[in-house]
Amino acid sequence: MPEESWTVLKLLQWTTDYFQRNNVPEPRTSSEVLLAHVLAEDRLFLYLNYDRPMEGSELAAYRACIKRRLEGEPNQYITGLQEFWSLPFRVSPDVLIPRPETEVLVEAVLEFLDKADSDLDILDLGTGSGAIAIALARELPAARIVATDLSMAALDLAQENARSHQVDERIFLVRADMFAALPGDSQKFKAVVTNPPYVSDAEMLELPREIRDFEPHHALEGGPDGLAAIRHIIAVAPTVLSQAGALCMEMGAGQAESVSGLVLESQEYRNFHIRKDYSGLDRVLVAIKK
Ligand SMILES: C[S@@+](CC[C@H](N)C(=O)[O-])C[C@H]1O[C@@H](n2cnc3c(N)ncnc32)[C@H](O)[C@@H]1O
Repeated sequence: MPEESWTVLKLLQWTTDYFQRNNVPEPRTSSEVLLAHVLAEDRLFLYLNYDRPMEGSELAAYRACIKRRLEGEPNQYITGLQEFWSLPFRVSPDVLIPRPETEVLVEAVLEFLDKADSDLDILDLGTGSGAIAIALARELPAARIVATDLSMAALDLAQENARSHQVDERIFLVRADMFAALPGDSQKFKAVVTNPPYVSDAEMLELPREIRDFEPHHALEGGPDGLAAIRHIIAVAPTVLSQAGALCMEMGAGQAESVSGLVLESQEYRNFHIRKDYSGLDRVLVAIKK
């Protein structure tokens, strides 16, 4: 960035062009998101303040953001924020950046559960930033949610998000390897909700560098065929579901046939269906326990 006097508009134009020439996806949006972050404002502020001169310290901070973005780091890890279910979530490289298609999973759970039910116990397996558990807790004021993860750093961030969205009293965070630390027979859940790691070994090699080099691999890797976690969850979820409770699980595009086969094979579910995401891809399993 040349040494000269900069305004918001001039800087956005220069950065958009620079990102474009360096193949950064969505160059204008990226420039705006990062500049708004540096100025601790929202993007609307930028449009209303195009002529605002930039100070030296702001330029230095923005320059550092541009460098990180150019190296492939996602905007969300640079700003520390991602929106999900119209709520702001803190994110860090310890957690997967919540994806818009995961909102389809939240919708499926809300459709299955009765909002008026005063006795709603839900299990969120692999909670990451806590996005799913927190969205559900906000929508279901009577729900109690056990949210697990193998990563302690993820649980800390989920706790911070739960607190900032004022649902921490109803979300119980547990460090667990899948179902391992859960109290077997005593507690049964109306819904087991999960967005498990489901990327196959071959697909891992093909991921864009924004994901492959920056997002946590333990949040993505589903083993040789991508189904390692999914297989385990379909097999074990019935032991913690109440009668007619639902397993609601996200899956990778192209996994619907294998997932359907696993559900039928288990003989523990009375029926199931698969929902599509906003791009028309099979995305969410809803399987009802017998
Ligand atoms: C695809 S991410 C989903 C994160 C979050 N629920 C979301 O939808 O944005 C999968 C999560 O499962 C966690 N995980 C992976 N293996 C696990 C295991 N064996 N037991 C518990 N959690 C696990 C990862 O740490 C990660 O947070």
